[in-house]
Amino acid sequence: MSQGSPLEHFSYDANGRLCARGRPMSEIARVCGTPTYVYDADAIRSRYHELTEAFASIGPEVRFAAKACGNLSVLRDLVGLGAGVDVVSGGEVERAWTAGCPMERVCFAGVGKTDDEIRAALDGRYSPLAAGFDGMDPVRRGPIGLFNVESADELSRIDSIARELGVTARCALRVKPLVDAKTHDYTSTGRLADKFGVDLEDAPELFARFGRVEDIAGARLIGLHAHIGSPVNTTEPFVKSARVLVDLAASLRERGRLIELINLGGGWGTAYQTGEAPDLRVYAEAVAPVLADELTRGTRILIEPGRTLVANAGVLLLSVTAVKRTGGRRFVVLDAGMNALIRPSLYGAFHFAWPIEVSASDVPRAASQDAGIPGRFEPADLVGPICESGDFLARERPFPEVRPGDVVAVLSAGAYGMSMSSNYNDHAQPAEVLLDGGRVIRARRRESIGDLLQPEAEAIELRCEVTEDE
Ligand code: LLP
Repeated sequence: MSQGSPLEHFSYDANGRLCARGRPMSEIARVCGTPTYVYDADAIRSRYHELTEAFASIGPEVRFAAKACGNLSVLRDLVGLGAGVDVVSGGEVERAWTAGCPMERVCFAGVGKTDDEIRAALDGRYSPLAAGFDGMDPVRRGPIGLFNVESADELSRIDSIARELGVTARCALRVKPLVDAKTHDYTSTGRLADKFGVDLEDAPELFARFGRVEDIAGARLIGLHAHIGSPVNTTEPFVKSARVLVDLAASLRERGRLIELINLGGGWGTAYQTGEAPDLRVYAEAVAPVLADELTRGTRILIEPGRTLVANAGVLLLSVTAVKRTGGRRFVVLDAGMNALIRPSLYGAFHFAWPIEVSASDVPRAASQDAGIPGRFEPADLVGPICESGDFLARERPFPEVRPGDVVAVLSAGAYGMSMSSNYNDHAQPAEVLLDGGRVIRARRRESIGDLLQPEAEAIELRCEVTEDE
């Protein structure tokens, strides 16, 4: 089952109750309320092991993309298994550190790194946590293992900040491999018109400037990086991108440059229904031959999986607040929608959703549009409370009869669910719960409305006049 599957870890028992590790979701909803994200720690661990086994012939260093699901308890677990963390902001640097990730295993991507973010990633004294955060002391944590650099400007800034601090900033150049990942336009990142990476022809000059080994301090280019999109549900784009990286590495070596590592990025798919993504072994078998010479040379290979590790290890529990019929349609109104899970609204993404308690005959047979029971259920729109018609989780979806108070689970919600949730319309974000070896752990307390209002509680006048000496 190396493709992942929505009903693999969360499944219905003989009484029609959705359970994970034998624990009914109705218990979690009763104790924790809704909206709540529930993650199965064992599912994440077993997926991590599946991934490392599938990719064993390449032996990649795994950098989990924190943006997919950055909850500290989840990160801590993956870091404990040996994963590093792929971060895209100063906030995520601090999150990785707080989760116990050695800085050596952090790689920092993103097109818009600020000077402050770069400084804190290189020297823990500049960490925003250094000012009295009640956690791990960042002061002596050392520089991060790798920057994935997105532009010449950024490389120059990293270089001058690293010199100022007297440290080496190890960098991989993110290049634009000109590969269409054939995924949603908004999450395709390796095409000509995308904002990510530098043009291939700019690489030699940047390596000439920043690929020196003799300098102790400053930015040092030691590798190449590409990330082509997410999710990439076919192998060819990965193969093409890997080939571009390998060819570029060879031509840079001919010019005397050292290429220690190749980072293939993330985007490895998983099943939101069935069959849409290749098995993890199929990805690995497709890219391994392209990397054969690199492996012989001892080049470090990195991958940055996010979704594939966590998507099917999480569900979102929501309560029905109303059922209404209007305009010839049935609307099931839930206590959160696009504010808790924006993927259906933003990308038209499919997430299977079903009540957590049903009669035995209504147990879904597949995580598909008709639940594998064609013709049985009247279609409904599953919508949230947000004041936009774009606020939906599913449209025209055959769905059992439900009543206010019933709880519905949205499946495959472990990736890019909580991390993209918002306070739009002044709704608190969901709580997060981790099931771990029979224990139920509150991994994020429910926000209060006070949490939302606090930053605005005191309005103070600022002095913005320009003084004579400025
Ligand atoms: N590395 C880089 C540089 C990335 O930009 C991303 C994702 C990843 C790794 C991890 O990709 P994954 O393995 O999770 O596919 N919000 C969208 C997905 C955006 C992905 C952004 N970058 C969604 O909900 O589908």
